[in-house]
Amino acid sequence: MARKPLIAANWKMHKTVSEAVATVRELLDRLGGQAPADRTVLICPPFTAIAAVRDVLEGTGILWGAQNMYPRAEGAFTGEISPRMLTDLGCTHVIVGHSERRHIFGEGNQLINEKVRAAFEFDLVPILAVGEKLEHRRAGLQEAVVEEQLVKGLRGVTAEQARQLVIAYEPVWAIGTGETARPEDAQAMHAFIRRWLAGQYGEEVAQAVVIQYGGSVKPNNVDELMAQPDIDGALVGGASLKADSFARIVQFQ
Ligand code: PGA
Repeated sequence: MARKPLIAANWKMHKTVSEAVATVRELLDRLGGQAPADRTVLICPPFTAIAAVRDVLEGTGILWGAQNMYPRAEGAFTGEISPRMLTDLGCTHVIVGHSERRHIFGEGNQLINEKVRAAFEFDLVPILAVGEKLEHRRAGLQEAVVEEQLVKGLRGVTAEQARQLVIAYEPVWAIGTGETARPEDAQAMHAFIRRWLAGQYGEEVAQAVVIQYGGSVKPNNVDELMAQPDIDGALVGGASLKADSFARIVQFQ
């Protein structure tokens, strides 16, 4: 089954409202005013800029989403943002379990699992981020670490839901470091993830799931990454902040 590539920008804690608007306007100019028909483009701004980004992107086919959320519809959770608030803004996707959430903010697999399930409950596509640290890879434990993140992160997720899922494989040592996984190493992990999905949910679901690579994706390495059979997209941090480099990544060959 042909999977539609998903190129997503994760702006992290960057850009004021006016900077965000200027960036998406320039991106649209560079893409000829519309999302390309054969790939999905998603922008995940900081919460404060989502509404302004929506106002620019509405009707262009480019989607917008969030970098995180709290897994409750509403309540006494000072400082948090709910899935209802995100769908109210037209968000289609939410990143869950990003390594910065796991390692800087101490999020564990149980909370991440609640977020995945809440995303499905509220009709948001969760982009579940998984990935090993350098010490794990050096010890040959990368598959075991990622498998544990999948098992615990997807607990209770049905096959019907899993079909909609996006997984982002982001080796922690490659995020923001300029060090990209070699395309063949990334492919090996993506194939491992797809085999795990097939074991859990069946081959048909596994073939439908979009698996993105993330970690220092740049204009000069995106083509060889996207040429791998199980790499279906990119989750882009640093190189998504500038419209020219992100547009080039969107236009991978
Ligand atoms: P990077 O970030 O592209 O700056 O490495 C990727 C990510 O953290 O999603």
